[in-house]
Amino acid sequence: MTATKKKPAVKAKASKKYGYFDDANKEYVLTTPATPIKWCNYVGTLDFGGIVDTTGGTLVCKGDPALNRITKYIAQMPNADFKASTVYIRVKDGKSYKFFSPFYVPTLQKLDKWECHIGLSYSRWIAEAFGLRVQVTIFVPTKSNTLLQDIQITNIAGGAKEVDVIPVYEFSHFEAEKQLTNADWVPQTMTLKAHPEKDGHLVLEQYAYMKRDYAVNYVTADCKISSFDGDRRVFLGCNEMGSWQHPLSLDNKELSNSECDRGDNIAALMIHAGKIGAKKTFRTCTQLGQEQSLKVANKAIKKYRDLKNVDKAFAELAAFWDKYLETIQVKTPDASFNTMVNVHNPRQCHTTKNWSRYLSLYQLGYGTSRGIGYRDSTQDLMGVMSHMPEEALVLTKNLISVQRPEGNAMHQYAPLALEEDTGSEANEGDSREKANAVDAQGNHLYADWYGDDHLWIVLTVASYLKETGKMELLDEEIPFYEKGKKRAEREKGTILEHLKRALKFTREHLGKHNLPLLGFADWNDCMNLPLGAESTFNTALYAKALLEMMDIEEHLGDTKAVEMYKGWYEDVKKAFNESAWDGKWWVRWFDKDGNAYGTNKAKYGKIYCNGQSWPVISGIATGAHAEQGMDSLNKLLNTKYGVKSSTPGYRGFEPSVGGISTYPPGAKENGGIFLHTNPWVMIAETILGRGDNAYNYYCQINPAAKNDILDVFESEPYCYPQNILGDEHKQFGMGRNAWLSGTSTWTYQAATQYILGIRASYNGLVVDPCIPTKWNGFDAVRKFRGATYEISVKNPKHVSKGVAQMIVDGQEIDSNVAPIFTKGTHKVEVILG
Ligand code: GLC
Repeated sequence: MTATKKKPAVKAKASKKYGYFDDANKEYVLTTPATPIKWCNYVGTLDFGGIVDTTGGTLVCKGDPALNRITKYIAQMPNADFKASTVYIRVKDGKSYKFFSPFYVPTLQKLDKWECHIGLSYSRWIAEAFGLRVQVTIFVPTKSNTLLQDIQITNIAGGAKEVDVIPVYEFSHFEAEKQLTNADWVPQTMTLKAHPEKDGHLVLEQYAYMKRDYAVNYVTADCKISSFDGDRRVFLGCNEMGSWQHPLSLDNKELSNSECDRGDNIAALMIHAGKIGAKKTFRTCTQLGQEQSLKVANKAIKKYRDLKNVDKAFAELAAFWDKYLETIQVKTPDASFNTMVNVHNPRQCHTTKNWSRYLSLYQLGYGTSRGIGYRDSTQDLMGVMSHMPEEALVLTKNLISVQRPEGNAMHQYAPLALEEDTGSEANEGDSREKANAVDAQGNHLYADWYGDDHLWIVLTVASYLKETGKMELLDEEIPFYEKGKKRAEREKGTILEHLKRALKFTREHLGKHNLPLLGFADWNDCMNLPLGAESTFNTALYAKALLEMMDIEEHLGDTKAVEMYKGWYEDVKKAFNESAWDGKWWVRWFDKDGNAYGTNKAKYGKIYCNGQSWPVISGIATGAHAEQGMDSLNKLLNTKYGVKSSTPGYRGFEPSVGGISTYPPGAKENGGIFLHTNPWVMIAETILGRGDNAYNYYCQINPAAKNDILDVFESEPYCYPQNILGDEHKQFGMGRNAWLSGTSTWTYQAATQYILGIRASYNGLVVDPCIPTKWNGFDAVRKFRGATYEISVKNPKHVSKGVAQMIVDGQEIDSNVAPIFTKGTHKVEVILG
């Protein structure tokens, strides 16, 4: 058995229709394979790893899902179909065989029991059939290029059973899109070779011909392999009239030992477990990896053929997660808040940090249409900053390296191309499509830059500085991005200079009302107004970035710079207040002629969510208007499943506004509950001191609290989806696009930094809660700059906000900022009132 000891799960919850949260083991336990839609988990990192769905399908990539894909997982196939991998368990039944898959898919053989434990970077199945209990655990050891599949089969019935194990993987061409679009070149080049070893071990090696000397995939196991197949046609049998549900090869004692010089490459291994006696367990572990050559792979192969090392790797993975999560652990009166904040939300932040919007069951990682998104990853990074600042810094610097000397940023980059320093690693995203559109006079109609991308990085860098105190980072030089030039030839600037140029770019790109220009789009990707349009979102983000910059400069002691940025801030605040109030809320955009969008006068898109929350977050909305905007939001945009991004939705395609109107009303940005916007509403409410509102907005989108309504919600209850259909749509409440969403980073920040109010600052750890009035208080443990803070908040007067007293290690202090200690454990008692 594997090294980790399971803690007993709370059984009472096991009655849920699809599954239940097992907080003691930090798992969600799924009890039926028939989820409403495909659900999945992530293993490994972007360096090596990918998706494992709940029925055993695996999508594995190394470094870049588009350019270095390993398995052929086609997400659009129905749930019951084979998708890149499975395991068959075969039992001798008289003269013939019967078999099943512990994943249920693709055999669809009835099982006596089935569970999928969705854990922290591992998935574990427990299935019972034919008197056998099969446990399969899939994970990637930390910092390795191997996917391990630990298979344990126990005879639970009595009477020896003759059992075979047949794991199978199907390979993809490394260039993922080519696999789907080129059925000539791809099959001619796909190659699978067998390397039998003297002692009965076997390695199957796979590559596309041109990669033979650079990158090879392999599959092997710890035990003897009696036969194999590398050719899908041979394995399925009868010229593929045999199916994945019943491969005809499984009717024979041995597989055909087919190599594959072209065609559909698979790796199927025949492992004879032999006769398993009553209560006895057979265990084997398969490896799927990629290295430069088998010679290089040999070390890892040998290592993981020793099952002790498999156990050790699993224990190391658990230790990684313990350490990652111990940065913040909370105990509040709300169990599903605790479940999300202590486990699943920070875990999701780790996933978005790795895969940006690149590889999910929705963002399929094909071609160059995605990559690491500038605005997406800069925000994602803030969600992991307290847990892994140094890892976050690596990605932060990559993002800084695709900022242009002008100050704005490229929209996305391909990770492998960045590594290879190609000079064309970054691109302008969707704005490329319209970049060449011109009017009759030959003037460009749209901007080929985004108005928000470059501003986010100021917030990201500030969050690193506050977390670590390492101000020297600002002096480090990083090249700007100049297309076509190698990194060494490009202009360089310190990180501080990069931030300054970002702000200056926006300062110099203002429109008619002296508000920042929209560019091709702001955060709302789907609103593409012609050149000259202004965005109040960019206005607020710019103002927030200015506030962060003033803090940075103040900490550096540059009072002149502080004054300058203060001036810029006041200018934009004034311009905003003079032009953007609509009567009951703030407008969202002005087009080039000064017409407002997000106004009561409009037929569609009268009011926008971000239009109200961001002015509060950035402090540019003041006085009564700040609250009034948020109240209008509550009245017009809130639903029981979350806040809609706008209302009413456009009722048909309108080229003048673009992407937003391609969706039916109630979907995505067009009046849907675009979840990413919701935590901003929570944060704004905490700034206004309205803790009950903030908490209510939190609860209505908490996926863990939706475990009872999964037939409506449909999406995984252990992570945030990107969108929920709004009330203008018939399927109101249905979630889609799980995992890779900015909802994760921001809800985590909203919960920990604003509702619980525990946030890093230059001078110490701030504790400034804004909680629901009904809470008596809460406890939290936060690691910060080498010390542990044990925080206990009491709320005797049942208020939301306002620290009446802070006592640190027995001494009352005159603020709500606990000092920087750098070591030891410190008690922080806070009394609200
Ligand atoms: C998608 C994009 C993100 C954008 C959001 C809203 O999630 O990845 O960049 O901000 O849509 O349009």
